[in-house]
Amino acid sequence: MKKLILLALLAPLSVFAQKIDVNKQFKLAEQQYQRMLAAQPDTSVTVHSANQDGTYRNMPSKWWCSGFFPGGLWQLYERSHNAQWEKAARLWTAAVKKEQYNTGTHDLGFMMFDSFGNGLRLTNDPEYKKVLIQSAKSLATRFDPKIGLIKSWNSFKGGYEYPVIIDNMMNLDLLFWASKETGDPSFKQIALTHADNTMKHHFRPDNSSYHVILYDVDGKVLAKKQHQGYQDESCWTRGHAWAMYGYVEMYRNTKDKKYLDFAQKISDYYLNHPNLPADKIPYWDFYAPNIPNEERDASAGAIAASALLELSTYTGEKGKRYYADAVKMLASLSSPAYRAALGENNNFLIKHCVGAKSLNSEIDVPLIYADYYYLEGLLRYERYNKK
Ligand code: GLY
Repeated sequence: MKKLILLALLAPLSVFAQKIDVNKQFKLAEQQYQRMLAAQPDTSVTVHSANQDGTYRNMPSKWWCSGFFPGGLWQLYERSHNAQWEKAARLWTAAVKKEQYNTGTHDLGFMMFDSFGNGLRLTNDPEYKKVLIQSAKSLATRFDPKIGLIKSWNSFKGGYEYPVIIDNMMNLDLLFWASKETGDPSFKQIALTHADNTMKHHFRPDNSSYHVILYDVDGKVLAKKQHQGYQDESCWTRGHAWAMYGYVEMYRNTKDKKYLDFAQKISDYYLNHPNLPADKIPYWDFYAPNIPNEERDASAGAIAASALLELSTYTGEKGKRYYADAVKMLASLSSPAYRAALGENNNFLIKHCVGAKSLNSEIDVPLIYADYYYLEGLLRYERYNKK
C-alpha cells in the first residue's frame, strides 16, 4: 500500500524522467557530417536527400532546402566552438548567397535565415547582415497588399494563380528580423498581415490545417486543397508542424497572446490526435489511408519537437506537457529506430522521412531538414535544462 502511495506521488515527476545524452548525439552528428563533407565536396549543389538506390539526391541552391545543410554545420559550430565547423559552415553558406536576389520563391526564410541567419547570430559578420536584408526585400516583393498574403507558388493545378501554403509561416521570422535591423516597419507589417490571414483561412474548426489555399486577385478564397498530404480534407503532418512552429515564432516576435493561444490550440490538435503513435513520430498524414501500415515522417517529428520545446517556455504549468512530449519525440529520434548509425543513411542523421507521398516522391528517405530541426531541438533541450 505504502509503495502504491509513493508511486502515485511520484507519477507527475515521471514526465521528466526521459533523458537524452546530447553529448553523445552531437559527437555522432559531428562524425556523420565529417563523412558527409567528404562524400559531398561539390557546393554547387545542395545536400538534400538520398534516393532508394543509395545515390545522393542533390538539388540546386534555388531549392527551398538549400539553407539546412549550412544551418546544421552552424549548429555543430555553435555547440563545439570548433573552427573546423565554422569553416565548413561558411563555405556552404556562401553557396546559397546568390539566392538573396531570388524573387521567384517564398522560401527565402528557410534558405537564407537558416544559413546566413545562424551565421550572423554566431559570428556577427556584417556581410551576412547585408545578404539577409536583401533576402527580406526579395521576399517582400511576393506580398500583395490587396490580398494580404505572400504568394507561395506562382501557380497551382486547375489554373489558380495565387496559392498560399501553410509552410509559408516559416518565412516570417526573417521579416521580423529585417524590421528590427533596418527600422523599416513594413517587413513586420507584412508578416503580421500574412499570419492573421493564414489564421483565418488555413484552419478548420477542429484546429487541423489545410496545405494550400487558393485566392483570387481580391483575396477571396477560391478553394482549399492538399498537395503533399493525402486528401483535401486530411491533415498533412509536416504542414501542421510548420504551422505550430510558425505561430510559436509569431508569439516570440510580437508577444501578442492571440498567437500564443493559437499555437497551443494547433499543438493540442497534433498531440491529442488518435493517430499519433506512442513514440510521437507521426505518419506522413494524420489520415493516411493504411495506418498503421504507412510511413512515418520523422521530419515532421523533429520540427514539432523543436516548436514544442520553445512553446513550453511560454506556457507555465501547461508547458510541462509540451516539454514532456517534445522530449519524448527527441528521445525517439535519438533511438536506433530513427537515428542513423555512423556511416549509414548516406551520412544523414535521421532516417524515415517522407517528402511527398501524394506525389510519389521521397518516401522513407533521409531529408536534410529533419537533421536541422533535430539538432535545433537538441540544442534547445540542453539550453532549457541548464536554466
Ligand atoms: N516546404 C515544403 C515541405 O515541407 O515539403
